[in-house]
Amino acid sequence: MRTPLVAGNWKMYTTPSTAAELAARIKLDTVNVDFADIAVFPPYICIAAVAEALKGSNIEIGAQDIFWEPEGAYTGAISARMIAESGCARVLVGHSERRTYFGETDEKVLKKTVAALSEGLKPIVCIGETLEQREAGITETILDTQLKDGIGALKNIDALTIAYEPVWAIGTGKTATPDQADEAHKYIRGLIAGRWGDNVSRNIRILYGGSVKPDNARSLWEREDIDGFLVGGASLKADSFRDIVNSVK
Ligand code: 13P
Repeated sequence: MRTPLVAGNWKMYTTPSTAAELAARIKLDTVNVDFADIAVFPPYICIAAVAEALKGSNIEIGAQDIFWEPEGAYTGAISARMIAESGCARVLVGHSERRTYFGETDEKVLKKTVAALSEGLKPIVCIGETLEQREAGITETILDTQLKDGIGALKNIDALTIAYEPVWAIGTGKTATPDQADEAHKYIRGLIAGRWGDNVSRNIRILYGGSVKPDNARSLWEREDIDGFLVGGASLKADSFRDIVNSVK
């Protein structure tokens, strides 16, 4: 049995003070949760405040991105070591917003994933098709390419989580139906089985992301291959995030 993981991606929302308040609320609201892993991904500048607010809880912290070099003259960049030392256990890699606005490619995803693993961080690698790609009937080809080029070169993916986030469902209020999500998750798990074997594919967690809300989480969670969620907007309110966490019970 895979333990569910519910992760909140706070994107470019919150400031250090509001992030600390949100984290403190989430900590209180999920104090009895023993059936799921929980993680939050605040903006870099809020990580220290969130780490302080979450002291004594099992909620993990992650960063939303990293640069692949360990250090150097890379103005504005943040390394895996920096976030690890700041209290992060996880990092998002290849989020579609990074791909769309910041030129993230599968090649960069690989470099960042390798850098994260070298510092003991657990990457959540995000993949997913756009609406045009879905309508063109090439969803599987896109997932195949993103997975192959993004992580295919890795020998060991035990520390990884995959997030399937169809781009057309992110921030749009248009959630993939349980059938659509489950179909993609099954396809991804099959790809993983083909490259790393059945045991790895049985154990790896595949999260769904894209307009997950308290009222649609349960029907997605009931599907066999959906192991939790990567939540954007609904993770910015402690009560809706708590309700989503409770839906995976
Ligand atoms: P929304 O839940 O706001 O659609 O965002 C999903 C997402 O991008 C999580 O990484």
